[in-house]
Amino acid sequence: MLAIQTHLLNRSVCRLLVSVSKKMSKPQIVFVLGGPGAGKGTQCSKIVETFGYTHLSAGDLLRAERKNPSSKVGTLIERCIKEGKIVPVKITCGLLKTAIFANKNTKFLIDGFPRNKDNLDGWDEEMGDKVDVQFILYLDCPEEVCTKRILNRGLTSGRTDDNVESLKKRFQTYVNETLPIIKHYEKDGKVRSVVTDCTPDEVFERVRKHFS
Ligand code: C5P
Ligand code: MG
Repeated sequence: MLAIQTHLLNRSVCRLLVSVSKKMSKPQIVFVLGGPGAGKGTQCSKIVETFGYTHLSAGDLLRAERKNPSSKVGTLIERCIKEGKIVPVKITCGLLKTAIFANKNTKFLIDGFPRNKDNLDGWDEEMGDKVDVQFILYLDCPEEVCTKRILNRGLTSGRTDDNVESLKKRFQTYVNETLPIIKHYEKDGKVRSVVTDCTPDEVFERVRKHFS
C-alpha cells in the first residue's frame, strides 16, 4: 500500500517538475509601458540592478538600427521617430527577438512595446508560443509632468523627438494607440500600475513591490 502511494507521489512530483522546467525554459517577459517621460528607462535600470532582468528598450533598439549604415530601414525609422509614429512591427519585433535569443538571461524587461495593435498582433503571432509574458508594468504619469521631464531631457539628450513639436505627436499616439493596448491587457488581469509623478526613488519603492 505504502509502495503504491510512494510511486504515485513520485509520478506527480515528476510531472510537476517537468511542467515547471518547461515553463522556466521559456524567456519570461515583463512589458513596461507608459507615456513619454513616465520613467520607463529610469525604472528599468533600477529593476535590472535589483532583480537581475535584462532591459530591452524598443526605442533604443530602433535608434541603434537607424544608425546602422547597412540597414535598409534606417530612413523609415527616422521618419517614424520624428513624427511620433509607430514603426511597423516586423522591424521592431525582429530586433527584440534577436536580442532575446542572443542573451542567456531568461528574464527580460521590454520597455516601450507593444505600443499599438500592429505591435501586439505581430508579437503574438511571432513570439506568442516562444515566451511567457508575466505582466505589464504600467507607469502612469500626468502629461504636464511628462512634458516637463522630456523638455528638460531634450536639453542634453540629442534626441530628434525630445522637442515640443514631436512630443505633441508622441502623446497623441500614446493616447490613441497605446492606452487601448493597456486596456486590452487589463481585461486579462495582467496590468500592474504605478503612479510615477514623484522622484525616481519614490517610484521605485512602489515598483519593487510588483517584483518581490
Ligand atoms: O520609447 P521611446 O520614447 O524611446 O520611443 C521613441 C520612438 O521610437 C517612439 O516615439 C516611436 O516613434 C518609436 N517606437 C516605435 N515602436 C515601439 C517603440 C518605439 O515605433 N514599439
Ligand atoms: Mg526610453
